Amino acid sequence: MRGIKGKVAIVTGASSGIGQGIATRLGCEGAKVIVDYIGHPEGAEETERAIKDAGSDGEIVKADVTRMHDVQKLIGAAWERFGSADILVNNAGMERKSDFWDTPEGDYDQVMAVNLRGPFFLTQAFVRRLREADKPGRIVNISSVHEDMAFPGFATYCCAKGGLRMLMHDLAVELGPLGITVNNIAPGAIATPINRALLEDKPKLNALLANIPLGRLGTPKDVAGMVAFLCSDDASYITGSTFVIDGGLMRNYHEQ
Ligand code: BGC
Repeated sequence: MRGIKGKVAIVTGASSGIGQGIATRLGCEGAKVIVDYIGHPEGAEETERAIKDAGSDGEIVKADVTRMHDVQKLIGAAWERFGSADILVNNAGMERKSDFWDTPEGDYDQVMAVNLRGPFFLTQAFVRRLREADKPGRIVNISSVHEDMAFPGFATYCCAKGGLRMLMHDLAVELGPLGITVNNIAPGAIATPINRALLEDKPKLNALLANIPLGRLGTPKDVAGMVAFLCSDDASYITGSTFVIDGGLMRNYHEQ
């Protein structure tokens, strides 16, 4: 895709699932990629190898998006290693299941910290650098259909993703004058480690599949293609939007 070759991208949570797919795809498009991970160095190495095999360059950085020091380190790494950055993909995410009335304070704090606080301060650190360098940029948040749609048992996740949606709306306006675009991608049910429990529960999986008009789970590649598009020249006038990638899940309603 035009406009990605030679750019520098930072992808959080890039050692598995959707983040790994995104980092690999951007590498295949010729971007140099900062591969963030926290728990799985082998996964991060796999991602870096895929980027290098595609003929581009990558750098692995271990950074916890919930810690300010790590946030600064991660954004700084792009400037130290590659001299600048153009693209930030806020992908790292997690969810915890519990009935609303039983949700522990610790789960609330952690889910909000990873899914909302992380993107907030990563974006802030990224934008400060861009402003100093007087450079435009692209920000893509990997949100969820649950930035909009209820998910019983996951109120914390819904709060965080709903907040991420509103953050994107606000930043599209605040950062537009700086030439920085901000968009969300809202994946539906994608086969990744985040929903391992569901994937291993056949009856639940079949019930979910029955709700997806396209009849299958999504793959990280389905999401990565949209990220590449949003980082390309063709998307230069797109900001403030959410792009749903869910096989039709959100639009589906049946009466039995
Ligand atoms: C969640 C998955 C869920 C999917 C569809 C995603 O955001 O992470 O656990 O299956 O939405 O509901």
